[in-house]
Amino acid sequence: MLDKARIAVLVSGGGTNLQAIIDAQKSGIIQNGEVVLVVSNSIDAYALERARKEDIETEVILRSCYESREAFCTALGDVLEEKKIDLIVLAGFMCILTKSFSDRFKDRIINVHPSLIPSFCGEGFYGLKVHEEALKYGVKVSGATVHYVNEVPDGGKIIFQKAVEIEDGDTPEVLQRRIMEQAEWILLPRAVEKISKEIVEKRS
Ligand code: GAR
Repeated sequence: MLDKARIAVLVSGGGTNLQAIIDAQKSGIIQNGEVVLVVSNSIDAYALERARKEDIETEVILRSCYESREAFCTALGDVLEEKKIDLIVLAGFMCILTKSFSDRFKDRIINVHPSLIPSFCGEGFYGLKVHEEALKYGVKVSGATVHYVNEVPDGGKIIFQKAVEIEDGDTPEVLQRRIMEQAEWILLPRAVEKISKEIVEKRS
């Protein structure tokens, strides 16, 4: 077996998508990549705890320690380069990255977004807010999208999408959970394996 793709997962909160990736590694859904680093922009993200439980190295990089978004993204990029990361996975990472960051890691960053892009996406649409807006609009299906990251928020090439039905009486929390269970936690590990495999094959 060739060396696996080295994966960094960037998080800000609970880390259920990170957990889905870890579980997929254990169950063999992910065979060509390995999470070697988890980076959080928040010191008390529960995702960090999930990483520690698995003996995965963690880093906290706070936006408030840098005078600009540019400087924050440069520092983040330096850490990822130093750790020789092949694939960067944004899994609930609530920071908008700069164009120089996405150019620096072109075609090597993916994100999971909790709606069917191009609906309910872009700057300001993150976490529960996405589901609140979907319910307010009255759409009958929503879902999740995994896509490459470029300089446009939620604007990169789509890798996978899955629709999830909205049910009568849904609250943003209930819808969020259904979309995670039926779409995000399935699509994201699948995308991680697909791209890791491509990275490993390109090397040989
Ligand atoms: C997930 O629903 C993810 O799709 C969303 O935040 C949640 C993070 O949950 N991401 C965005 O809204 C990005 N625009 P998690 O920390 O439990 O994985």
